[in-house]
Amino acid sequence: MSIKFPYTQGQSAAVSHIISRRVSVVQTNMVGQVVPSDDELKQIFQGAMAVPDHGQLNPARFVVIKGDKKRPYINKMYAVKTAGNPNFPLSEDEYAHNFSGVGMFIVAFANIQLGKIQPYEQEWSVAASIQNMLNLFYAFGYAAKWNSMHKDKAEPFKDYLNVDAVWVPMGYLMIGKSADTAKQKSRDDYQQFFTDF
Ligand SMILES: Cc1cc2nc3c(=O)[nH]c(=O)nc-3n(C[C@H](O)[C@H](O)[C@H](O)COP(=O)(O)O)c2cc1C
Repeated sequence: MSIKFPYTQGQSAAVSHIISRRVSVVQTNMVGQVVPSDDELKQIFQGAMAVPDHGQLNPARFVVIKGDKKRPYINKMYAVKTAGNPNFPLSEDEYAHNFSGVGMFIVAFANIQLGKIQPYEQEWSVAASIQNMLNLFYAFGYAAKWNSMHKDKAEPFKDYLNVDAVWVPMGYLMIGKSADTAKQKSRDDYQQFFTDF
């Protein structure tokens, strides 16, 4: 055990266990529209700040959508989807039903600053923030899932959320509660992806 980072073996094992066992839960398996407590959310959101951030640019921006803001946002997602695909088979209510268990959305953006630090590095930093939150939601017993927001379909969402038009969409998280949270997933053995040089 180092003097600088004096964690007990039990604490280290717990963190390792949580990170290795984390699973995503699809939104249709989320139930009850559960939202973490304010104290939990503070810890989870603060965890999003503890990421590698080349140049200390703080590129991550998050918009939290919960309570009565959720259904109008789902309707917006439906409007964007059906505008791009008039043959989309679901009605608005049927589409919204897919999200009926979701407690909260977090829409993630990268506020890219042009200069020495490459834009992709800044996006990766935001991705690391998202992953920290996924791990922390799991650690606190919540279900979470990360979905894409395609860059060429982001304009109506940025407009709706009243965010800066230059922000790069990094996707959105759905948070909830699920019996599925406990379901384990088999992961590939790391050894085939690591080589000794
Ligand atoms: C950047 C990114 C975007 C994703 N977008 C979607 C998506 O739009 N729809 C989807 O079903 N899964 C998407 N996924 C996959 C899920 O978030 C998740 O990683 C996958 O279901 C595997 O589950 P796991 O987290 O348990 O490994 C995305 C993953 C990443 C990293």
